Amino acid sequence: MTTADELRDEVRRRYAESARAVSDGTAGCGCGSGSCCSDGANFGEVLYDTEQRGELPDAAVLASLGCGNPTAVADLHEGETVLDLGSGGGIDVILSARRVGPTGIAYGLDMTDEMLALATKNAKEADVSNVHFLKGVIEHIPLPASSVDVIISNCVINLSVDKPAVLTEMARVLRPGGRIGISDVVAEDHLSSSERAERGSYVGCIAGALSKGEYEAGLEAAGFEDVSVEFTHEVADGMHGAIVKAVKTSEPERAGLPVIQPATQAGCC
Ligand SMILES: C[S@@+](CC[C@H](N)C(=O)[O-])C[C@H]1O[C@@H](n2cnc3c(N)ncnc32)[C@H](O)[C@@H]1O
Repeated sequence: MTTADELRDEVRRRYAESARAVSDGTAGCGCGSGSCCSDGANFGEVLYDTEQRGELPDAAVLASLGCGNPTAVADLHEGETVLDLGSGGGIDVILSARRVGPTGIAYGLDMTDEMLALATKNAKEADVSNVHFLKGVIEHIPLPASSVDVIISNCVINLSVDKPAVLTEMARVLRPGGRIGISDVVAEDHLSSSERAERGSYVGCIAGALSKGEYEAGLEAAGFEDVSVEFTHEVADGMHGAIVKAVKTSEPERAGLPVIQPATQAGCC
């Protein structure tokens, strides 16, 4: 059995390799490439329209490893503070920085040094100055309570080894009335943890996915209201790219989600 720390290290190694591949000009691999970078058809840059891709440096587009487009659903406004959990090569941070303008701030949080270096380079090339990339884990967000208006994330929460902690931390750092607009892989409720693991690897964003019901219950337990989880496109049998939305209206409590055991070997690539 792989421990949570080993699994997180495996995730970090996998995405460090993806960042290096983009920096070296070779193809990256990430979510959806569960069997060694083979099937990424429903992941990455194809989920952004031509206009958005035109706003971005090539390397930021190439580094896109998400399963949706959170900036399209988050309805960002001038002057807001946005936090992207697991910001990778910075694609959604750069797009958010442009939406919130010079009076707003876009934070990107990631645990992988190589991704942070790539994102910083991409933001410089995109000429956006209202961005800050933070090193850390999404289970312990390095920002004060009630300091963020909007949390976005693209295909990252499924990779967390402590999802209740992530949901609780999101509720802590959001201001009252703050909202989330997240893209993630989500399983249909009838799939057990082992059935999810049969459909793809943990580092490939499949095995660690929450089910729709688990997501909804976890967000509600963490103090969110107006929770919705909508499937957008199938990424594996019974597993979907999904848009997750909710609003913080009350104080966070620790979410009572079942612990998802690391039921699969992480490695590939
Ligand atoms: C699938 S990639 C998605 C990157 C980006 N959101 C995108 O759409 O291209 C996952 C990213 O999340 C980061 N990550 C995974 N688990 C994390 C954790 N627990 N804390 C912080 N970052 C994490 C990885 O380093 C990687 O950059």
